[in-house]
Amino acid sequence: MKISSFDHYKEVYKQSVEQPEEFWAGVADTFQWRKKWDKVLEWNFKEPRIEWFKGAKLNITENCLDRHLEEHGDKTAIIWEPNDPKDSHRVLTYRQLHDKVCQFANALKNNGAKKGDRICIYMPMVPELAIAVLACARIGAIHSVVFGGFSAQSIADRIQDAACNIVITADGGVRGNKEVPLKSIIDDALVQCKSVERVIVLTHSRTPISMIKGRDVWWEDEIRKVETQGNPDCPAEEMDAEDMLFILYTSGSTGKPKGVVHTCGGYMVYTGFTFDTAFQYQPEEVYFCTADIGWITGHSYIVYGPLSQGATTLMFEGIPTWPAPGRFWEIVEKYKVNIFYTAPTAIRSLMSFGLDVVKDKDLSSLNKLGSVGEPINEEAWHWFNDNIGHNKCPIVDTWWQTETGGFMISPVAGITPLKPSFAGLPLPGVQPILVDEKGEEVVGNDVSGNLCIKFPWPGMLRTTYGDHERCRTTYFATYDNMYFTGDGCLRDEDGYYRITGRVDDVLNVSGHRIGTAEVENAINMHSSVVESAVVGYPHDIKGQGVYAFVVCPNKHSDDELTRKDIIMTVARIIGAIAKPDKIQFVSGLPKTRSGKIMRRILRKVAEGDTGNLGDTSTLLDPAVVEEIKAGAL
Ligand code: PRX
Repeated sequence: MKISSFDHYKEVYKQSVEQPEEFWAGVADTFQWRKKWDKVLEWNFKEPRIEWFKGAKLNITENCLDRHLEEHGDKTAIIWEPNDPKDSHRVLTYRQLHDKVCQFANALKNNGAKKGDRICIYMPMVPELAIAVLACARIGAIHSVVFGGFSAQSIADRIQDAACNIVITADGGVRGNKEVPLKSIIDDALVQCKSVERVIVLTHSRTPISMIKGRDVWWEDEIRKVETQGNPDCPAEEMDAEDMLFILYTSGSTGKPKGVVHTCGGYMVYTGFTFDTAFQYQPEEVYFCTADIGWITGHSYIVYGPLSQGATTLMFEGIPTWPAPGRFWEIVEKYKVNIFYTAPTAIRSLMSFGLDVVKDKDLSSLNKLGSVGEPINEEAWHWFNDNIGHNKCPIVDTWWQTETGGFMISPVAGITPLKPSFAGLPLPGVQPILVDEKGEEVVGNDVSGNLCIKFPWPGMLRTTYGDHERCRTTYFATYDNMYFTGDGCLRDEDGYYRITGRVDDVLNVSGHRIGTAEVENAINMHSSVVESAVVGYPHDIKGQGVYAFVVCPNKHSDDELTRKDIIMTVARIIGAIAKPDKIQFVSGLPKTRSGKIMRRILRKVAEGDTGNLGDTSTLLDPAVVEEIKAGAL
């Protein structure tokens, strides 16, 4: 939605909360439906049951592909920049992308895929990843993309949870000068996964891999078969608005990651609308989101949101620091990128290389910047604004979550007055509310509390896969009649929102969500570990680092070696992204008489703030605190 002024935003916002159904029906009208809805919204947050555009029929890929063909078929849909700048880049027009999606959708069908199947995708950041995602959506199969940094065990957990019957992967991926042996990791994962009947393998890194007869097939062979069948088109499967589109696993404060479920109609409307509104996307603009499609940011704002709006979206396979730390700026210069959307952790990491790698690049094409994943600190905001945006590009600091599907609180580019480190005001249709510990609304401005949302929005999660009760207890049971985000937040005197970070036991490490319980479980798998407690601590680049207190009485004499073994254990169980940054061996953990670990104390120690640890009188063994303080890293 194009917004012409701040007053216009206020007007639209007011209408959107006073008449939400009319508002969202108007937005939904800008999409292509096979059949329109019978009812815009039915909901209750008790069960919860949320149904948007009930009775409507559609296929999201017709909105992302087919509807652009007549007028914009030759427009660039995807630009792909390879890991190695010496390799050739690729460009796919909307027509080419459409054809490739149809081809691969037919290949999936040839391999037994059908509507409702769950298909796991574990791939590098290549155009075929976007093609695989869209091909699943085309035939009504539910994709479950797993980020390339997760271990075989994590993949197996996710495949089993959703009982996937097909896996799509590649021989290997390359990031900087590191190779990720994707197929080999999949082979390890599949030892535990009896539901998988077929693995489709894209040739990419050309690493030698095993191919198992009857189970594994090459992507390229399957495409050739489709070509010889002479059937290039693949009519899109007709989906109900509330049919599942995908599952994406995310960490919480307890247990294993949960499969957040998004559905076809609402997610399509919400991601398209928020992309267009927050970035005020103009038809000729080149848009570059640096996320990986393995995370929600890539799902919503590399693939579905931009493509439903007919945008040109740039996919980058590599990392910001290889072969040199100016790589992002080189890409901006090379493709004359207009909108650049990245994460604070990337900005902080690039700041540390100084301005020399920025100065010689032509960044004049940029007109809008974006930030996502964690609160952006003022220093990073100003560096981004001064040196990348040259004080002429609005910074859209988008607050949202895997569960929200799309942006919730965010400036409208060029319209909303900006404040460094504030996500700003809610987008139209979003109704935030702050509550205190007791669940009472915190009213007025210049206040803080726990951030909840009090009215549904089309992009919200519908359930957690296979366990609706978990969805209810995690998000809808903390406070009556509200969705609880897990974030703390302040609202300043102008009503602007600033996210202060998680209030639950979830860490945000380099913009990745990591549950402390999950890391503890992995550490406890190490044979000499008795128990452990994990907390976050401020980290200059990552935002938060992982600090583990570990009780390990029978460890070997070499502490450093044991630390490395524990780190390796975590990498095997979860993946490299969850590796502890610091491991402190302790003889015991500070516990209350009822056996609860006092994390508050551990957090203070990890933060290096041991001056005042507060009340420790309820501790079972106060002496342990002195030992922990003395051994702090
Ligand atoms: O704590 C918030 C933080 O990231 C969490 C959501 O993580 P995830 O589901 O992995 O999605 C990340 C990409 C949307 C939130 O609960 N977060 C995300 N964006 C921001 C943020 N914190 C502050 N400012 C943001 N812009």
